[in-house]
Amino acid sequence: MTTLFLLVGLPGAGKTTKARRLAEEHRAIRLSPDEWMLPLFGLAEAEGKRDVIEGRLLSLGLQALRAGTDVVVDFGCWGRDERSAIRWLAASAGASCRLLYLPVDLDTQRARIAQRWAAAPDETFPMTEADILDGRTHFEEPDAVELAGHHLDAPPPAWPDWHAWAADRWPSFT
Ligand SMILES: Nc1ncnc2c1ncn2[C@@H]1O[C@H](COP(=O)(O)OP(=O)(O)OP(=O)(O)O)[C@@H](O)[C@H]1O
Ligand SMILES: [Mg+2]
Repeated sequence: MTTLFLLVGLPGAGKTTKARRLAEEHRAIRLSPDEWMLPLFGLAEAEGKRDVIEGRLLSLGLQALRAGTDVVVDFGCWGRDERSAIRWLAASAGASCRLLYLPVDLDTQRARIAQRWAAAPDETFPMTEADILDGRTHFEEPDAVELAGHHLDAPPPAWPDWHAWAADRWPSFT
C-alpha cells in the first residue's frame, strides 16, 4: 500500500524541510507549490494560480499513488476541509494517509522566516509581520481527533462527496 504524507503547518513551521527528508526516506515524490509559483510567477499567489497549480499537483500525486509511489503533499493545508478532502482522495486511490502537523510558536516562526530570507531568497517570498499574524488567525489547527486519523468528516452539505468538493476548491483538479 502506498502512503500520502500530508504536511500541515504555518509558514516557517518546517514543512518543506521535513518534506525533503520524507521524500528521501520513502523514495516519494514531493509536491511543493512554491517551487512552481516562484519560477512561473515570482509570487506566492497570482490571481488564483496557486489553486490551479495545487489542483494539478494533487492529480499528479494521485496518479503516483496508484502507480506505487509514495507522495508528500507540502501545501500547508490550513483548512480542516482541505485535509479531509485529501485524506478521502488518498483512500480512493487505495493509499493510506499520514497527517503530520508541525506546530510553531510565533517567535520561532519569525526567526525561521527571517533566517530563510537571509539564507535562500531565491527559494522563498518576502513575508510581512502582518502576513504572519494573519496566517495565525486563519489557520485551523488539527485537533486530537483529526490527528488520530480514525474519523473522517462528511463534506459540507452542498457537496455530494469530497471529490466534488476538491474539484471546486482546486479548479484544475480532475
Ligand atoms: N526543525 C527545525 N529546526 C530549526 N530550523 C528549522 C527546522 N525546520 C526548518 N527550519 C528552518 O526554518 C526555515 C523554514 O523552514 P521551511 O522552509 O521548511 O518551512 P515551511 O513550513 O516549508 O514554510 P513555508 O510554508 O513558508 O513554505 C528554513 O530556513 C529551515 O532551514
Ligand atoms: Mg515550504
